[in-house]
Amino acid sequence: MKILITAGGTREPIDPVRYIGNRSSGRMGRALVAAAEKIKDIQIVFIDASKGSALDLHRQVMAEYATVDIVIMAAAVADYTPVNTADSKIKKGTDNLNIQLTPTIDILAELGRLKQDQFLVGFCLETENLIAEAKRKLKEKNLDFIVANSVEAIGSGHSQAVIITKNSQTELPDLPKEKVAEAIINEILRLIN
Ligand code: CTP
Repeated sequence: MKILITAGGTREPIDPVRYIGNRSSGRMGRALVAAAEKIKDIQIVFIDASKGSALDLHRQVMAEYATVDIVIMAAAVADYTPVNTADSKIKKGTDNLNIQLTPTIDILAELGRLKQDQFLVGFCLETENLIAEAKRKLKEKNLDFIVANSVEAIGSGHSQAVIITKNSQTELPDLPKEKVAEAIINEILRLIN
């Protein structure tokens, strides 16, 4: 069995020294890798999203997709990226600086469209309507499973997660992310077996 895990926040380049990022620490993804390593006969492919942009992550994920059985998209993928990346460092001036942004590709939605037998897991982090939004994303992105987290989880060592499938909703207590990761891996294995 082969599992692909992505983690961390993408970095969208503005110029050679600056990027647009987010508060994701990648801790959940690393905890998922550690939990998966405890399973026998499992091959893990880990992609650290913070090493590149949403476009870079898209390329790397697509290169692996046909060969994996499970994908966990724990990465915090930027929804927008600068239209242009300056070749040299932008110098300061006195006028306002506008950076035009364009939407990125929704990687998980594409995986959902191309899905053969892969088991697809997404994450959902919201400030409002967490469960309703998680259910919407589960359906729209054709996922098997989504982990809903309130926004306090970002950058923190613990989270209060809800695991949602088409016909179930499991609320976990507030736990260290390592324990949440173990629960997620165990639940995936239970559902695919
Ligand atoms: N995701 C992705 N590609 C994107 C954006 C998100 O693969 N361009 C994935 C994330 O890795 C996560 C899931 O989609 O597993 C949900 O991400 P989230 O940011 O919560 O949702 P969005 O689809 O961006 O929707 P919205 O901005 O409406 O909340």
